[in-house]
Parts: sequence; structure tokens; C-alpha cells
Amino acid sequence: MKNILITGGSGLIGKHLIERLQAEGHQVSILSRNPENVKGVKAFYWNPQKQEIDRYCLLGINTIIHLAGESIADKWWTSERKKEIVESRTLSIALLYKVLQETKMSVGSVISASAVGYYGDRGEELLTEDSNKGTGFLADCCQEWEEAVDKGAEMGFRVVKFRIGLLLSKDGGALMEFRKIVRNYMGSDLGNGKQWYPWIHIDDLVGMFAKAVSDSTYQGTYNACSPSSVRNHEFTQEVAKALHRPLWPIKINKVILNIVLGEKSSLVLMSTNTSSKKIEKQGYSFRYTTIRDALRSIFS
Ligand SMILES: NC(=O)c1ccc[n+]([C@@H]2O[C@H](COP(=O)([O-])OP(=O)(O)OC[C@H]3O[C@@H](n4cnc5c(N)ncnc54)[C@H](OP(=O)(O)O)[C@@H]3O)[C@@H](O)[C@H]2O)c1
Repeated sequence: MKNILITGGSGLIGKHLIERLQAEGHQVSILSRNPENVKGVKAFYWNPQKQEIDRYCLLGINTIIHLAGESIADKWWTSERKKEIVESRTLSIALLYKVLQETKMSVGSVISASAVGYYGDRGEELLTEDSNKGTGFLADCCQEWEEAVDKGAEMGFRVVKFRIGLLLSKDGGALMEFRKIVRNYMGSDLGNGKQWYPWIHIDDLVGMFAKAVSDSTYQGTYNACSPSSVRNHEFTQEVAKALHRPLWPIKINKVILNIVLGEKSSLVLMSTNTSSKKIEKQGYSFRYTTIRDALRSIFS
């Protein structure tokens, strides 16, 4: 049984993860900027932007799970917003490390979210955890995020980072945006439709975090993506099939997407074909390996 503190535990991934970890018998508490709104789990106050934290949150903790971060999809990427996106991930974990140092407390493990955005737009290349960082805001953000988390390794903690792909969940995130579009009879390819999307079902993502909590041989970086990335065309086609809607044989031009979304268009236009070999070699067995099965479980 572990005593786990989750940053950003009130979010989409956190809610599912808390349920899973509690069911496995772990003690879970979370850090939130609004602990009074949190139900079903002990919540402590922090505000990384103001460098404020209830230091009691770390008492008896042996595992930190770091999920906190401003949404990358919500607002226009101004330079101010980009700073918020990065700092909500870096200053937050740095604040926890600072408290650990000052109080001479220690934790055994730090397990953090990162994202496949680390690789940037890579065409047909098969991306392993050893592939170089890509270019662009997302890649730079993920690098800073991972470097901030890695400071924990220098402090002697076991550090695990999951580079998460497009998350499939019925409770929110990118899939629900695609669903809205397709349900409103507006489904079509984005850009040339050939870009790769590395997806992961929420049950598998939560399963990976849970394994990393209890299995100390998990260490370093893992692509948290299914073994079968799909191209944008196939992804939208499968969503349309699952929702019994047509997919129009047109392509929404890159230029239009750039006008509508600005730099954020990279979220849907970027091609990232990841390998899942490392996590499989680690012993993780995927519950969902095809996009059709994964979508069926969500939409049925
Ligand atoms: N969902 C995906 O598809 C996906 C894919 C790749 C990577 N990830 C990464 O995985 C992590 C968790 O994702 P998620 O989908 O669960 O995100 P989410 O639903 O947006 O939740 C993130 C949580 O972070 C906290 N937060 C937001 N801004 C903050 C700030 N400025 N300072 C401190 N805490 C802040 C919020 O908690 P409070 O409001 O309670 O403080 C929020 O509940 C994120 O870092 C995300 O980038 C997600």
C-alpha cells in the first residue's frame, strides 16, 4: 500500500486514477487550488503561481503523481498563455521539491504526465523514447516540464514520465470535441488526413500509472500510447462509424485551420507515430489495442 499525493488530481485523468488507486488499496490525497470543491478524496490547498502550499500535504507521502497543468486546448496561445501553460507544470513540481528539501522529507517515487508533443511534427518516423525532441511550442514545453520533474532524480527519487497521446475518454478531452463535430454532420479530414495520432484509452493510461506506482522497475520515460497509432483520416472515419454519421470526402485545409486555431492548429495537424515497445517490454499488457474496440467501449 502506498501513500500517494496527486497534483491536479481534480482533472480528467486524476479522477479516474484516484478511483483506481483507491480500489487497489492505496491512500490517496490531492493538491488543488480549490480543495473545498473536491469530493471523495482528501484535498490540500496549493497555488504554485503564488508559491503557496499547505506543507502538511507531504506528511507520510511516499509517491507523488504530477498531473497539474493549465489546459493546452482552452485558450489562444498568446505568449502570456504559453508562459502559464509551461509554468503551471514546472513551478508546481519545483515547489514540491523545494518543500521536500526544506523540511528534509523524502518520497520514494515521482510519476509525472508529459505528452507526445515532445516529439513535434515528425511525419512517418517511428518515435521511441530515445528519439530527439522535436520543434515548436509543445516540444519546448514538454522538455521544460520533463527537466523540472527530473530534478527529483537528482534528489534520489525514482522518476517515471509518461508521454501521453490523444486520450480516449467519455468524460472529456479531445475525443469529445471530435464527437461534437462528427455528431453535427461536420466530420471530415483535417489537413491532408495523413498525420498520425497516437491514442490511448483512459483505462490503459490509468493502468500504466497504477503499475508504475507499485512496480519499482518502472523508471524513466515511456510513450503512453497504444500499439496502433492511426492516421487522422482513419481516426475520424472510426469516430463517424461509431456514431453512425457520414464522413464528408473533403479535407479542411491547413491554412483554414491555422486561421481558426492559430498556432494551436498543431494539436490536430502534427504527425506523431509513437512506438509502444518500451512499455510492452516493461510488461504492460494493453486492454485496448485497436481504435475500433477503444471507441466502441466509449460510445456504446
Ligand atoms: N487529457 C489528455 O489528452 C492529455 C494528453 C497528454 C498529456 N496530458 C497531461 O496530463 C495532465 C493531466 O491531464 P488532464 O486531462 O487530467 O488535465 P485537466 O483535466 O485539465 O486537469 C488538470 C488539473 O491541473 C490543475 N491545474 C490547472 N491549472 C493549474 C495551475 N495553473 N496551477 C496548478 N494546478 C493547475 C487543475 O486542478 P485544480 O483546479 O484543482 O487546481 C486541473 O484539475 C496534464 O498535465 C496534461 O497536459 C493530458
